[in-house]
Amino acid sequence: MKTVPAVPLEYHGFPEDEMKARALAFYEMMKKRHSTRDFADKPVPLEVITTCLETAGRAPSGANQQPWHFVVVTDPAIKHQIRLAAEAEERAFYTERASEEWLDALAPLGTDADKTFIDRAGCLIVIFAQTYGLNEDGSRTKHYYVQESVGIAAGFLIAALHNAGLACLTHTPSPMNFLAEILGRPKNERAYINLVVGYPATDAQVPLHATHKKALAEFVSFV
Ligand SMILES: Cc1cc2nc3c(=O)[nH]c(=O)nc-3n(C[C@H](O)[C@H](O)[C@H](O)COP(=O)(O)O)c2cc1C
Repeated sequence: MKTVPAVPLEYHGFPEDEMKARALAFYEMMKKRHSTRDFADKPVPLEVITTCLETAGRAPSGANQQPWHFVVVTDPAIKHQIRLAAEAEERAFYTERASEEWLDALAPLGTDADKTFIDRAGCLIVIFAQTYGLNEDGSRTKHYYVQESVGIAAGFLIAALHNAGLACLTHTPSPMNFLAEILGRPKNERAYINLVVGYPATDAQVPLHATHKKALAEFVSFV
């Protein structure tokens, strides 16, 4: 390693028993996370959303370029505009664009072009990936590992929201250029995920298919 300006790492270690307990407690909490498509018509506390976004902003990123932007949408008129645009794309997807194979993969989830939940959910957090940096003088800065970095930040955000007691849905209508247009984002940003966030409806259900998670031995190898 070369010497660069640095500060001490604020490391808080734990005795091994406490590590085990903490790892287990986090797993037990995350095990209960599920995407919801049934939201209560109830506003979300913006302070909670803000703190969860602070968490997302702490994600690692290629060369620390933090190539992301998050737009929190609570305005019912804008949410409705997004819903209508999303439903138009989704109708084309379900009737023309999606391959039979893709539709078969989605079938057990029961999803369709109806996105009423966008109106009901407390807010949308539209996540944008900055494919390159746009400087004040109009010049561009190359960004590295954009997809990986934004994916990790999105994961931090989903975990933080769940930890705070909010539900969400990773919504990815295809294509989703309409999100940058409606939200007036600059040309270096591509919509990455429309994260629908809110309280779940009291009768919210999880498709059985989503509860089928691989056993550890199926997705982990120790070498
Ligand atoms: C990258 C990504 C894109 C997704 N896109 C959609 C989507 O457009 N619409 C939808 O209803 N669910 C979408 N989902 C949610 C998945 O269907 C869901 O995560 C999966 O069925 C597992 O369920 P769980 O989140 O409850 O564990 C998406 C999830 C991911 C990670």
